[in-house]
Formats: sequence, C-alpha cells, structure tokens
Amino acid sequence: MTALTLSTAAAPGLRADAIVVGVAKGGKGPVVAPGAEAVDKAYDGRLADVLGTLGASGAEGEVTKLPAPAGFKAPIVVAVGLGALPEKDETFGAESLRRAAGVAARTLAGAKKAAFALPIEDAADAGAIGEGALLGAYAFDAYKEIGKDAKNGKAPLGEVALLGGKPRDAAYKAAVARATAVSEELNRARDLINTPPNDLNPEAFAAVAQAAAEEHGIKVQVLDVKALEKGGYGGILGVGIGSVAGPRLVKLTYTHEAASKHLAFVGKGITYDSGGISLKPAGHNETMKCDMSGAAAVFAAVVAAARLGLEVNVTGWLALAENMPSGSATRPGDVLRMYSGKTVEVLNTDAEGRLVLADALWAASAEKPDAIVDVATLTGAMMLALGNRTYGIMANDDAFRSAVHEAAEEVGEPAWPMPLPDHLKKGMESPTADIANMGERYGGGLVAGLFLREFVGEGITWAHLDIAGPAFNEGGPFGYTPKGGTGTAVRTLVRLAELTAVGDLG
Ligand code: BES
Ligand code: MN
Ligand code: ZN
Repeated sequence: MTALTLSTAAAPGLRADAIVVGVAKGGKGPVVAPGAEAVDKAYDGRLADVLGTLGASGAEGEVTKLPAPAGFKAPIVVAVGLGALPEKDETFGAESLRRAAGVAARTLAGAKKAAFALPIEDAADAGAIGEGALLGAYAFDAYKEIGKDAKNGKAPLGEVALLGGKPRDAAYKAAVARATAVSEELNRARDLINTPPNDLNPEAFAAVAQAAAEEHGIKVQVLDVKALEKGGYGGILGVGIGSVAGPRLVKLTYTHEAASKHLAFVGKGITYDSGGISLKPAGHNETMKCDMSGAAAVFAAVVAAARLGLEVNVTGWLALAENMPSGSATRPGDVLRMYSGKTVEVLNTDAEGRLVLADALWAASAEKPDAIVDVATLTGAMMLALGNRTYGIMANDDAFRSAVHEAAEEVGEPAWPMPLPDHLKKGMESPTADIANMGERYGGGLVAGLFLREFVGEGITWAHLDIAGPAFNEGGPFGYTPKGGTGTAVRTLVRLAELTAVGDLG
C-alpha cells in the first residue's frame, strides 16, 4: 500500500524519484500552479515556457515529464494538468486536485517515492491530493507477478510526500489520516470487486468481512444457509440456492459510545451474476463479478467509519449470493416468501439484486435506524439513463435524496437524482403473488427502486444508489479511477456517516 506523508522539505534537496508539479490552463498558455515556486525558480522562472514548448496546455489528465533542474536530487519533474486556472481569489477545486494527483500517482507506477508540489491552501487540499494519489496509485496485482516483465505492469508508487503540508498541524494530520483510511478501505473494496468469482464466493466474502471487522472492533454476524432458512430469508435463499456456494447475510455493527444517530447501509453482494435460469447471453456476463460492488462499498465504508472513530452508529448489511442456474435454482414462475412476509413471483431470475436487497432492507428496518442507504449494481437501465460514470439516487424522501446528492458531489462521485413514479408500480402486479420482480421495461431502474421501496419499514428514511454504471470501469483509467472495480459510493457513504456524526444530516 502506498504511504502518505506531509513534508516541509524543499524540492531541490529532496531525495525522490520525481517531483510532481501542477500546471493549469491559462488564457495565454500553461501556468505553473502554486506549490511549485522552488521548482520554477530552479528553471529560472521559465517552467511555464518550457512546458508550453513541450506541448503542455494544462488540460486535465495531461502529463509532461522533463529532466529536473541541475542540482536537484530527484531526476525528473512530472507536470500534471489541473484544468482551467481558477478565477481570481479562488483556488483549485478538490476534485481537480484529486484527479491530477491520481494521474501523477498512476504515471509514477514502479517508482519508490515521489514528492508532490501541488497547490495546497488548506488541510482539505492536502487531504484531496493525498486521497487522489492513494486511489490513483492502486493496481490489482494479486494474479500477476508484477515486474516480471513489462506486460505484467509495475508495482504501485511506494511513497507520496506532500510538500507544503504542515506535518505538525492537527488539521493537516487529520486530513492525511482520513485520506489514508478512506483510500485504503476503498482500495480494498476494489480488490474484492476485481477478485475473480471462483475465488470470491459468498462464504469467502463473508470471511474477509469477518476478519476485517474483528481487526477494527466491529461486531460481525454471519447468517449461513441454515440460519437464513431458519429466519425465513426467502429472497436471499431464492437467489443463492442454485449455486453450490450458498448465500450469506453479513451484519456489521459499528457503534460509538457517544453516538446519537444510527445509519444502516445495505449492499447488493452478488459475487457472480450469470442471470440464473434466465441466463444472460454471452457478452453480458464477462464482468459480472462486479455485481457485489454495492456490498464491497458498504463493507469499506463501515470499516472506514470505525477507523475514523466517527461519532455515529453504523450498521452494514451485506446480502451475498451467487446467481447461478442449476437443478436447485429458482425458476421463472416460482414464488418466494420474503423475510418481510410478502410473496414475490420471480418472472426473471436475472432481476435478482432486488430480491436479496429486499430481505436485507427488511432486516435493517427492524432496528429502526435514522436512515437506510442501499447500494447496488442493480439495473442495466440505469446505465442507459446515466452512462457509465454517474450513479442514480432514488429515495422516499426528497430532502434526504438531495442530502445524498450533495454528499456525493462533495467527495467527487458523480450522481444524479432519479424519481420513483408511482404509476410504474402497476407493472409489477402479479396474479399469483403480492408483487412480481419485473415490471415495465421502460424506466427499469425506477421500477427496481419502487420494488425495493416496498421492503423498507414504515416511516424509515431511505435512499437507493444504483451504481451499475460507474461500479466497474471497462475503459482505460482516468483521474484516480483505475480500470476494473472503482469503489464507487464508498466515499459518499463515509461522507454521510461523517455528516450524521456532526449532526449535519437531519
Ligand atoms: N447485475 C445486473 C445489472 C447490471 C447490468 C449491472 C450491467 C452492471 C452492468 C442485474 O442483476 C440485472 O441483470 N438486471 C436486469 C434486470 C431485468 C431482468 C429486469 C437488467 O438490468 O437487465
Ligand atoms: Mn441480474
Ligand atoms: Zn445482478
């Protein structure tokens, strides 16, 4: 794991493999961002000119490498684009810093240590740069012998020193500690998402959660197949029973003695979604190991909340199952009796996420938390609506939906509010059961949200995050987002817990 430190060292004498500076897009060409004054001085104040000559513009995502000035201990300077120069009296936004730091860290894979001389105005900027660097440095290398040959990629950047940070200032120290805890847990969520489904079945996921919970003083309970049967969890069982690797429901309980609020996070944890008897066609299942991204996000957020010691009680529910076709699998036409007591006619076994979530939502509701947030790679329809970088937010409370949206924006996770139109409920009417697990095709993401709403306890504030689009990045890396599992929603959940802890969220 990449280490993050604050440093007061001056760039020239610093022993590192590279010095990272920021370059912004000015009206008349690239502008060197604050924080790199000593570096610019060593180039006789000509760094912007040099960068311009090399073709740099300061655009986001841009990387320009140049030899360090004479006398520098570090051999190279890496200039990363920060995008548009801020207006007068304004500073670079947190997301711009995060992304630039992420690009720099990824570029420097294979290096041992880099010094980041990016613009830091306050502790929050240091946190943003640190977070971007730690997230951008991420690589999933569990199945490759890294460094063996060029094809196998390079080890992540070993150490990031933030120049211009204040190592003895409490706010800066807290910002670095927060960035470290959140990024490490988020990267662990990415590892879980990227782990192939033959190695991460529900039992294996539950074991990982159990070990981490014990390490961080979180109470953990795992319901296995027998316990699920005894408890009447017909939704989770109905989805998971076709697989030789049976389902699990994991409950993580983080409590703080001074907490006055209680949040419940519920995650969809389909460790592989083949579609079940309603089998997905080839071309639609290669990335379906990512269907546990919601549970991974919930897991990461609860552990991060514990590591940060947030003054709020947080319960995490991981609804884990493998959706497989077999002789014991649920058939289209079967009726399941859910944990809530409602019956569901399963018309399509590929609409499985809402079934496992329904049981977990009902279980979460029984504790009467102040709010429930579920996270799920739930529908292809949400990807059609919002693309692959934005998640949809639905809720049974307008103010809460806005609060979640604001939290998402604050942490740099693109999200957008979606409605839950009542008329779409009609499509889920079943002649046989209380409700069907399918409705109208149009607005499929909203139909799924409406289904979930039926399993939220009376009077409980609830939001549903459909992260099917941004959970797994099939394209190339960008900013601090790698290829593969992204860890989307972890930072929104942590932010919600933080806001709740200080009483700023209802
Ligand atoms: N896990 C999928 C949704 C998904 C699709 C996530 C693509 C990430 C990328 C979900 O279980 C599913 O199969 N949904 C169906 C629902 C339909 C059968 C009502 C879908 O969206 O097609
Ligand atoms: Mn499915
Ligand atoms: Zn699914």
